[in-house]
Amino acid sequence: MLEIPVTVPENDPLTLPVQKTVIDRIIGENRGTPGATMVILNELQSEIGFISTSMQAYVAQQLHVPVSVIHGVVSFYSFFTTTPRGKHTVKFCLGTACYVGGVDQLIEKAKSILGIEPGETTADGMITLEICRCVGACSQAPVLVVDEEVMGRVKPSKIPQVVRRIQDGRSG
Ligand code: FES
Repeated sequence: MLEIPVTVPENDPLTLPVQKTVIDRIIGENRGTPGATMVILNELQSEIGFISTSMQAYVAQQLHVPVSVIHGVVSFYSFFTTTPRGKHTVKFCLGTACYVGGVDQLIEKAKSILGIEPGETTADGMITLEICRCVGACSQAPVLVVDEEVMGRVKPSKIPQVVRRIQDGRSG
């Protein structure tokens, strides 16, 4: 049985036998190795798709480290998410050039259209908003990345169109 100091919500990966097996395998294979925390969290993110609060507590318990340490790592790196990502991801570059170029206005526009904050996913599971660091297209600031496609010189007025394309199944 689980021995973690939090209530595990229904449908958390820890309550699903197949995913629980994956979690235990990843922890078992990597505990005791140098940098175990980072390796384990990376593999959990890749294989499970996110690292829930309960999973963080479980990893902390298994590695005998305070849960605050695990939580600190998960919240510091934007690669990690605590909820499943949506089918499509819209990332806003917060590098210096894009910041100066007004990416905050793009973020505000997307937030107001979708009703979610960066780091969150729409209720239909379609779109996740994220913040990212410089993607190397500074000359085209402000930049956003829709799934794998980099879009440059984006104006706030273009955001509704970007969202519509994704919702219509034509990301980009
Ligand atoms: S700062 Fe945004 S692409 Fe470099």
